[in-house]
Amino acid sequence: MVTPQGRVAYGPVQPEDVPGLFDAGFHHGAAHPLCHGLTAQIPFLARQERLTFARVGLTDPLSLDDYLAHGGFEGLKRAIALAPADVVQAVTDSGLRGRGGAAFPTGIKWKTVLDTPAAQKYIACNADEGDSGTFSDRMLMEGDPYCLIEGMTIAGLAVGATQGYIYVRSEYPHAFRTLQAAIGRARAAGWLGASVAGCGRAFELEVRLGAGAYICGEETAMLESLEGKRGVVRTKPPLPAIAGLFGQPTVINNVMSLAAVPLILARGAAFYRDYGLGRSRGTLPFQLAGNLRRTGLVEKAFGVTLRELLEDFGGGSASGRPLRTAQVGGPLGAYVPATQFDVPLDYEQYAAMGAMVGHGGIVAFDDTVDMAKMARHAMAFCVAESCGKCTPCRIGSVRGVEVIDRIIAGEERSRNLALLDSLCDTMLAGSLCAMGGMTPYPVQSALKHFPQDFGIDTAAAAAA
Ligand SMILES: Cc1cc2nc3c(=O)[nH]c(=O)nc-3n(C[C@H](O)[C@H](O)[C@H](O)COP(=O)(O)O)c2cc1C
Ligand code: SF4
Repeated sequence: MVTPQGRVAYGPVQPEDVPGLFDAGFHHGAAHPLCHGLTAQIPFLARQERLTFARVGLTDPLSLDDYLAHGGFEGLKRAIALAPADVVQAVTDSGLRGRGGAAFPTGIKWKTVLDTPAAQKYIACNADEGDSGTFSDRMLMEGDPYCLIEGMTIAGLAVGATQGYIYVRSEYPHAFRTLQAAIGRARAAGWLGASVAGCGRAFELEVRLGAGAYICGEETAMLESLEGKRGVVRTKPPLPAIAGLFGQPTVINNVMSLAAVPLILARGAAFYRDYGLGRSRGTLPFQLAGNLRRTGLVEKAFGVTLRELLEDFGGGSASGRPLRTAQVGGPLGAYVPATQFDVPLDYEQYAAMGAMVGHGGIVAFDDTVDMAKMARHAMAFCVAESCGKCTPCRIGSVRGVEVIDRIIAGEERSRNLALLDSLCDTMLAGSLCAMGGMTPYPVQSALKHFPQDFGIDTAAAAAA
């Protein structure tokens, strides 16, 4: 509730609570058992560093006036005043790396598209958000759609693309509708169209709905799907930046990557780069899910630890039992054991311990989790979601489920463990994309950190 003192929070509110809230005068910020005080002072929110999500929850998502009153389109105005190469340079200098999983430097990708001559270029926004426990893309698209529209328009002007597509997963009907409405309003107000904000250069935007396949989040499968075909991974090269959508140079970026761009242009590359650690610059909207007292979105600069996120923000396990592990970075991410909860979250430090930050999804588990079952689940997920193009993934994942079943059943355990090890090696090295290539991450991390769950006698192994 907005009051002269600031926003006052009430919750969780059930329908039957509403009359009592009115009686208490909640619309004036009055005291009530469900009142949490000033929203901005709630520790979960106050301790965040909200750059990309600065407006979410504050503005009316579809109000252009609200957007403009909260710094909206400042980045685009600045981009219009700059030469395209300077816009690309600003993104490079900010240190922004792709938030979709691979953490590739965004500015370098844009430069490749800028430097590739073509009559038609595209911006394709990956809003498939298929990772388990992730929802930051959805929250941004539903809560601040103009931010994504602005980021994509800046990308279009920077690389010379006149058409953009947002590929939204079918499970996000509200985001789909919000984006369509926002694009219509932005176009009517002249922020999109034949002459963006009167600058004489064109940029158009359309939304496309996926059909529900994890692999359609892989960038080349997404391109196939956007072209109306079955979502199957393409071989690379050529890179999509050279020959992407309909064979034309295409910038493919995650929603979070593109939504970070308006601020980078508005406040300058150095402002954004000043947040973070090592080569991981800026902030990441982490998403807390699983067995936690408080789940939700936490935007923090890189360098925050898993312990801070799980305990300070998440409030520890919902079950009240000790947290044993968290899977970071979606279904292809490693299980990080509690002994590594203090490692700062940055791309390099996570890679060094065989894990990944990915899209920032974090799923927490308490000490009742059976890690052999989780390893089996990783292989079974790959069986279900493999596009089938390459053998290590298509066949390897099926064999992976079988071999883990034999290990769990205690059949020739050491021989089957060696077989699983070799199978993981083959999938890692021989798969065409990260679907098969990273499924071994959760499997191997589960084996490495929780061997006892696989029936491995750790005392005997240590003595041997
Ligand atoms: C199996 C698989 C699923 C993926 N799913 C997504 C996804 O849902 N969203 C996303 O942005 N990137 C996803 N990616 C990563 C994309 O291939 C690509 O790297 C990314 O969209 C590039 O944008 P970025 O540089 O801004 O991260 C996936 C990759 C793989 C291998
Ligand atoms: S690794 Fe799996 S999903 Fe990727 S191309 Fe091969 S079969 Fe398809």
